[in-house]
Amino acid sequence: MERFEPKKFILKKAGAFKSLLEGKRAIVAVSGGIDSLVCYEIVKKTPKIEENQIIPLMIDTGLMRENEVKTTQELFQKRYNVELQKWDRQEDFFSALKGIVNPQEKRKVFRETFYKNISQAMRSYSAEILVQGTILSDVIETQKGIKIHFNVLYEAGINPLNYGFQVFEPLKELTKTRVRMLAKALTLPPKLLKMQPFPGPGFALRITGEVTEERVEKIRKATSIVESELTSPKLFQGFPVLLVDKVTGIQNESSIIGDIIVLRIVEASKDLLTAKSLKLPWQKIEKVAKKLLKEIPGVVRVLYDITEKPPATIEYV
Ligand code: XMP
Repeated sequence: MERFEPKKFILKKAGAFKSLLEGKRAIVAVSGGIDSLVCYEIVKKTPKIEENQIIPLMIDTGLMRENEVKTTQELFQKRYNVELQKWDRQEDFFSALKGIVNPQEKRKVFRETFYKNISQAMRSYSAEILVQGTILSDVIETQKGIKIHFNVLYEAGINPLNYGFQVFEPLKELTKTRVRMLAKALTLPPKLLKMQPFPGPGFALRITGEVTEERVEKIRKATSIVESELTSPKLFQGFPVLLVDKVTGIQNESSIIGDIIVLRIVEASKDLLTAKSLKLPWQKIEKVAKKLLKEIPGVVRVLYDITEKPPATIEYV
């Protein structure tokens, strides 16, 4: 197998982008994670690009982690002295997802809403190329029919030209491990390198049943608690999931009906097609469970998911 050389790879992809760009304008779909940031760094290395020829843009879906938009805007200001464009479409996403409970349907609606908005943004900036951080596991999972990842277009039978643009996906042949090698070679901040992967459809994948603003707020708060409390060098992704069921609990000595949160904590394999539940020390799990029960209103039960992938997937949707 050919040795992976990050610097060579970056130059090769920047060269390929130059031929595609040819005086056109491109938008980089920024999500706040390292995949899209590495994409931005690669295309910025294209020789002889003009000011405003490459525009970083974040669609605010309302389904992202606490402060994700603000932190990413600050990063762009500090690291590149560039204003990250924000396309605020929270209302559009919530109204599109209203009433949808089927996992596949949720993904489909998210994808349609996402690309409809990207398409509008591209037109308003007169951009013809969309740069996005699709990685190998997204493609393989879609091809195998495990899950259609929202950002995988061709393999899901969708031609981006129908949306009015071409796509450039420099990381499509890389595993997450290799993307992290690129990020390191590009000297991205260590904090970002350690960040847990967060899927594009965000909290829509971490809520079973209907996605509402109120339920997203609950899971967003729970996610901040889990991410700050549960750390381990072996942890790949560790997050809470809000279930649709309501169950009995006790509050102030009387019975209440409340929510269930599941803790999904996994160590991953190289290609993400398999994953194992992480055997964290019991005290750590208990501590975070107590915090969730205390700080998230309405939660009466916390469960720990011990299922491997397969048969389960990492996300719940
Ligand atoms: P699953 O749930 O299929 O997830 O075991 C495998 C990995 O992929 C991430 N994931 C996604 N990432 N778009 C993304 O960018 C998606 O639609 C998507 N769905 C899942 C998931 O977080 C995990 O790391």
